[in-house]
Amino acid sequence: MIITNISQLLLIDAQNKNFKRGKELSDFPIIENAYLSIKDDLIDSFGLMSELSDYSNEDVLDAQGGIVWPSWIDSHTHLVYAGTREDEFAQRLHGASYEEIANKGGGILNSVKKLRNASFDELYSSAEVRLKELLRMGTGALEVKSGYGLDLENELKMLKVARALEKEYKIPIKTSLLAAHAIPIEFKDNRRGYVDYIINEILPAAHEQKLLDYIDVFCEKGYFTAQEMQDIIVAAQKFGIKSKLHVNQFNSLGAIQIACEHDALSVDHLEVLSEEEARILGESNTIATALPGCSLFLEIPYTPAKLLIENNAILALATDFNPGSAPSGNMNLMVSLACIKMKLTPEQAISAATLNGAAAIELSDTHGSIKKGKKANLNISGPLHSYSFIPYNFGHNHVKHTILNGKLTHHD
Ligand code: NIG
Ligand code: FE
Repeated sequence: MIITNISQLLLIDAQNKNFKRGKELSDFPIIENAYLSIKDDLIDSFGLMSELSDYSNEDVLDAQGGIVWPSWIDSHTHLVYAGTREDEFAQRLHGASYEEIANKGGGILNSVKKLRNASFDELYSSAEVRLKELLRMGTGALEVKSGYGLDLENELKMLKVARALEKEYKIPIKTSLLAAHAIPIEFKDNRRGYVDYIINEILPAAHEQKLLDYIDVFCEKGYFTAQEMQDIIVAAQKFGIKSKLHVNQFNSLGAIQIACEHDALSVDHLEVLSEEEARILGESNTIATALPGCSLFLEIPYTPAKLLIENNAILALATDFNPGSAPSGNMNLMVSLACIKMKLTPEQAISAATLNGAAAIELSDTHGSIKKGKKANLNISGPLHSYSFIPYNFGHNHVKHTILNGKLTHHD
């Protein structure tokens, strides 16, 4: 198939990088008036329309002056959950804080109650509806966490739903075991018992059944300490499993240093971040993932993304799609928020939502930029002159057509 009449083809990278750090996020090669050809499920060639030889025998998709870019990569979601929490949202609007709601058994533990009562099929169907919406909004690969089960059976149930969705939808879905998301009620007075249960039972079982790609821990006051996080990361490393971690959302507990010392793949949230922590990240290969949807929804600070870039860090953007703190999986909106609220340039934000997102789930060999031989997972906008329109026209879904595995899978 050949896509013709592309106003701007956003290559994201032209130097074979697996991620962009610091200033590199501003390198933004594009081709204007371009074509792109696909063979089977891969990008085959691309260039100027004027250089395209006779294509009358090809299957043509006329982009009609639309922009083409690699699918968004959402490297941090909690896509699998049961029920919703708009009642807590309303309580917050009546004056309660996220923390107060959580302390009264709401928050994560509210979702845990709902999830434990949901069957595999119920969970699958509700997550499938959300996944289909993400695909329509241009996400072409994602990560999905457990963390609303908090016991062996229910954590594995969540991971199995994610695996089943991957099989059915044939896009990469990486999984993270987030059993360390909160202390479940049955371990209320025995937190060490719960950490040991994760290390000795949930983690080995999930690994044995090949259900997890990564380990995650919510390191935060009232949740897990930096020491507990370290114990869990070390246990996972014994199985060769890397970590992606929730850190510095409300408080800095010293987790960033530990994460970098243990070669964490990513540290996510970072709404509370010191200059020293930004420096540590800039000197590491650990990807710093900002989640602007959570900042918007909880009205907490935005991750100081510019500070991270100034310190040469590898910055990624993701949605954190979850029922409590970020109920939107719209990557178009995340790119807008990154520009409007974090003051990133469109080039930096789009790079962070594609190639660096791919790096944050170890997919950048095959996804996240326009390169011969990479997966043809692409987005095509309606007619647009400039990619800056994507963050500018906030809240809109700019994706008119999606191509997944070389096939047109959605068009308006
Ligand atoms: O990433 N920070 C911890 N976990 C989720 C929120 C979970 C919830 O409220 O259900 C997050 O923001
Ligand atoms: Fe999260």
